[in-house]
Amino acid sequence: GKPTILVTGGAGYIGSHTVLALKQAGYNVVILDNLVYGHRDLVEKILQVELVVGDTGDRALLDHLFKTRDIAAVMHFSAYAYVGESVTDPAKYYRNNVVGTLTLLEAMLTASVKKFVFSSTCATYGVPEFVPIPENHPQNPINPYGATKLMVERILSDFDVAYGFQSVRFRYFNAAGANPNGLLGEDHNPETHLIPLVLMTALGKRKSISIFGTDYPTPDGTCIRDYIHVNDLADAHILGLEYLLKGGDSEVFNLGNGSGFSVREVIAAAEQVTGTSIPVEEHDRRPGDPPILIGTSEKARTILGWQPQYPSIEDIVAHAWQWHQKRHK
Ligand code: UFG
Repeated sequence: GKPTILVTGGAGYIGSHTVLALKQAGYNVVILDNLVYGHRDLVEKILQVELVVGDTGDRALLDHLFKTRDIAAVMHFSAYAYVGESVTDPAKYYRNNVVGTLTLLEAMLTASVKKFVFSSTCATYGVPEFVPIPENHPQNPINPYGATKLMVERILSDFDVAYGFQSVRFRYFNAAGANPNGLLGEDHNPETHLIPLVLMTALGKRKSISIFGTDYPTPDGTCIRDYIHVNDLADAHILGLEYLLKGGDSEVFNLGNGSGFSVREVIAAAEQVTGTSIPVEEHDRRPGDPPILIGTSEKARTILGWQPQYPSIEDIVAHAWQWHQKRHK
């Protein structure tokens, strides 16, 4: 059979979608998740793979895991990812996202497991000098969250040179949508992301959607983002894993659609999909938001053969809508 893959953060949003894709591709999966933001129910009822509850910073637990399982590679999704909180409580972010990850990497070295797929982010670029952003664009993160991800990227390239440790680093643009099978979706608490908040407004769970900044240097004054369907991210992870298992060298890949939508355009798409009129409130800018983030993902297409299946914003919003309707029934 196919090898066993350890998936940290497999009970979270992008992790859970990838676990399902791994299962469908025939892999054996073990999830490590501390369940601070992950969902036990999701693993037990939908994913139905082994769940080990614990932290990536728990070296004894990791050593035990690697000794008792025949793990071929690690996919590392677990991280704290609230940009605003990372500014007010950076210690929490550096501890978990950097120190926790370093502990995981050291346990892997001890166990001679040297294949790693890492969730990085377009937030490592900071305010881009130009768009679309290629992988070799300068990285100057403007918040601690982005800084933690960049530090791990740096650790990974140094580990490759010193220890022959192969990694694929994926820089996601804005992950969105839900598995069209209706079983998985985005379930953050607290929720801060635009698309779920817009859809919760359409459902009447919120009075209005706040637009953070209407004076950006963009055509309609609101921020532009490159939204990428979570199933397309999951597909990229399978391809990245197989690339490493076949002996591929360490690489970094952007994962986005290469097209941007403004906050107002996302709201309009949601009105279209939901058939409702969504009340908006205009607010000041949210600190730490670059005006425009769009990536080029040609490298992932060329080297991995990645082909996003759901590039349209309407599909992304429609799949998220199906999930949110079911969830709030
Ligand atoms: N926005 C609003 N109103 C809201 C929520 C968001 O106007 O209620 C705007 C934001 O200001 C931003 C856009 O919608 O311009 C998208 O915001 P999200 O919070 O959905 O996502 P971000 O662009 O902030 O994503 C960032 C990074 C990711 C990172 C993620 C972590 O780009 O790399 O935060 O949650 F992973």
